[in-house]
Amino acid sequence: MAFEKLRKEETLAMRKRLIGQSCRLFYSDEPVKIIKARGQYLFDENDKRYLDCISNVHHVGHCHPSITKAAAEQMDLLNTNARFLHDNIVMYADRLAATLPEKLCVFYFVNSGSEANDLALRLAQQYTQHQDVIVLDHAYHGHLMSLIDISPYKFRKLAGQKEWVHVAPLPDTYRGIYREDHPNPGQAYADTVKDLIEEVHRKGRKISAFFAESLPSVGGQIILPQGYSTKVAEYVRSAGGVFVADEVQTGFGRVGSHFWAFQLQGEGFCPDIVTMGKPMGNGHPLACVATTVEIAGAFTANGVEYFNTFGGNPVSCAIGLAVLDVIEKEDLRGNATRVGAHLKDLLTKLQTQHQIIGDVRGVGLFVGLELVSDRDQKTPATETAARVVKRLKEEDQICVSTDGPWENVVKFKPPMCFSMEDAELAVRCIDRILTGVQCSRLTDET
Ligand SMILES: Cc1ncc(COP(=O)(O)O)c(C=O)c1O
Repeated sequence: MAFEKLRKEETLAMRKRLIGQSCRLFYSDEPVKIIKARGQYLFDENDKRYLDCISNVHHVGHCHPSITKAAAEQMDLLNTNARFLHDNIVMYADRLAATLPEKLCVFYFVNSGSEANDLALRLAQQYTQHQDVIVLDHAYHGHLMSLIDISPYKFRKLAGQKEWVHVAPLPDTYRGIYREDHPNPGQAYADTVKDLIEEVHRKGRKISAFFAESLPSVGGQIILPQGYSTKVAEYVRSAGGVFVADEVQTGFGRVGSHFWAFQLQGEGFCPDIVTMGKPMGNGHPLACVATTVEIAGAFTANGVEYFNTFGGNPVSCAIGLAVLDVIEKEDLRGNATRVGAHLKDLLTKLQTQHQIIGDVRGVGLFVGLELVSDRDQKTPATETAARVVKRLKEEDQICVSTDGPWENVVKFKPPMCFSMEDAELAVRCIDRILTGVQCSRLTDET
């Protein structure tokens, strides 16, 4: 293999010396060196195969030959910036438009989810001429300074909350303030946003945007209750603000039944701005903001050019088009629906055998398994979750990881070619590990 020049220990030592230590590795105690991948499988330097349950970026499968071919062919022909007239950018925008509600018909191409959200923030502030932003608790929207400011998951560990940022409760019906037994959690959680808007107005401030992931992932693989987004959008718009749906993790058919996760909220709901990234280029840095003619018009009206050196270049757009083709040709949404339902069923059955499984939730290939040491108290079983992750990797060569404020939600966001057999294998191995944990009473939490 041309790239495999160093022994694993050498790579590790060089990484420690040369790469900023805030850039953490997966499995930092015993990192895995991956040198190639295909479909839903990763291979280490000894050709040991790992099942990848978490790489939502490699959406249509690692190193998919159609994506490689599209990239190589366009790379061989032309790659310029988007200031020259070229077919790819307009053809790609047109294909994306066909997946979205009609009013989301203007596109800006960028290189990462962070860039997309930063631009969404600028669009919202320019359009509304307001500054303040409402975000959900535990949210993460990116690594730029502007986004650390609107990401409670980060700013709580850093400089803290800015006066223009307001945090609404996470609509988590498992452990949030309104739960499954509430008659209308969607409305109840939306009313918390209404209250927040009133509080903001009392301070003499004005809302520019409500930002939320369509399925909060860092927050713990949360499924927003029905009616929530429609009501929030109504409140936010009547305050003069806009609704931004962050689809960086959840877009491009991951939920199976719909192309975008915000569509789970029903036909009547349409955000004002949608940001997208990760799966869009199947690993190639490609991201985007979709918005309305009115919002884009206000951004243009400020008279300042928006120029992004790499955003929307012919190679990126050729890759984006190829990703859309593969999703369709291989019916990956259908696969996400079928395999995701099977995975959720299997995990739900497992819940009847293991007290430690507090909740199983998800839609399509976006699934979370929340571990708790006490079902009534919902005490997060953080260390057990970490142990499950470690043992799955060491004993079964299965890669999963955790999310949620207490890192006790084992998450599944695999490439969309994940199979029934993959789901069965992962669940069998989790069953074996949890059985061992129960028998030996090894949990820190019990
Ligand atoms: C929901 C969400 N939005 C935005 C981002 C930022 O994307 P990127 O890392 O491509 O800048 C992330 C990254 O993890 C994310 O999960």
